[in-house]
Amino acid sequence: THRVRIGLLGCGTVGADFAELLVERRAAIESVTGLSLELVRIAVRDPRKPRPPALDAELFTLDAHDVVKADDVDLVVELIGGTSAAGELVLAALDAGKPVVTANKELVASAGPELFAAADRAGVDLFFEAAAVAAVPMLRPMRESLLAEDVTRVVGIVNGTTNYMLTRMMGDGLGFDAALARAQELGYAEPDASADIEGADAASKVAILASLAFNRSVVADDVSREGIVGLDREDFELADRFGFDIKLLAVAERFADGGAVGAQVFPALIARDHPLASVRDSFNAVFLTTSAAGELMFYGHGAGPRPSASAILGDVTGAADQLVRGTHRRVPVGPPAVMRPTRDLV
Ligand code: NAP
Ligand code: HSE
Repeated sequence: THRVRIGLLGCGTVGADFAELLVERRAAIESVTGLSLELVRIAVRDPRKPRPPALDAELFTLDAHDVVKADDVDLVVELIGGTSAAGELVLAALDAGKPVVTANKELVASAGPELFAAADRAGVDLFFEAAAVAAVPMLRPMRESLLAEDVTRVVGIVNGTTNYMLTRMMGDGLGFDAALARAQELGYAEPDASADIEGADAASKVAILASLAFNRSVVADDVSREGIVGLDREDFELADRFGFDIKLLAVAERFADGGAVGAQVFPALIARDHPLASVRDSFNAVFLTTSAAGELMFYGHGAGPRPSASAILGDVTGAADQLVRGTHRRVPVGPPAVMRPTRDLV
């Protein structure tokens, strides 16, 4: 058995479920992989908040930097969110030669190139499967199985909160505020839900997917975006009358002439017999167009604490496996993309 000691940064909506799932699955993971994954420290901000009873109170600290630096932490999991504190901590962990697992799309889609370079310098890997299409194992297949493929287009629904809201607003006639409140109760929304409803979260995700698909660095600011805040009852009634659903789509394509990239997030009318119309509630789906494999579809839970915890735990197990083998994998992202507006794709 190889013991790998984990330092967790953040124990909120996602962090608490990840910690509980780790405790729940630990013995099974050890029996399958020979890895003994031990949660040794958890950094939080507020000492008064209640924490999951399955977690020993002695694990908690208010000093996140101490967790990153501690000699008894082999691997760091960042579930704080945002870019400032999280960015510093992730960089510090990588610089200390510790592999990092994060679900932070905002961070990866803004500081990705800097973080990948730091990981490379230190000879460790940065894992971020839960940062896009939460539970669906898609990023690692893109980094590994599809590395030699020629991917030309990415189209999908990549935000669970807005897809849940649109499903409820179109299907049940729920109002915008009530649909958002329910998505927040279910743990789908970002700590600041304006990122969901204004399309910034989907823009970060399509930037990450495009970077891996096209081997060119695309950041969230490269993505033109429109969210769902401008939609009203009349839009839903009109769409319904003509047999359409409204979906928040994310699209990225690489142009054949010269390799420029276009990336966009926007609400679109989808015919009811289109496969994307069957993607309901917090589910997400992403279609990749590739030259040899043809069309590939990835589908599953795109938001929610437990589905996200599944992807994070998968990454932690992969990171621990690399640690004991002394290997790592570069994130295969090339130079900054030259951006162009997308064509009318859908
Ligand atoms: P959250 O509920 O706000 O939790 C954040 C946690 O970080 C809290 O435990 C907070 O401590 C702690 N924290 C904040 N600042 C800190 C600091 N400076 N030092 C130490 N701890 C600090 O956030 P969340 O909704 O779990 O989101 C976490 C990440 O997961 C985000 O990057 C989000 O984009 C990503 N994500 C979410 C989903 C989803 O379905 N919701 C899916 C995939 C990815 P306190 O508890 O003491 O306040
Ligand atoms: N707020 C995000 C969403 C969480 O609703 O898709 C998953 O990344």
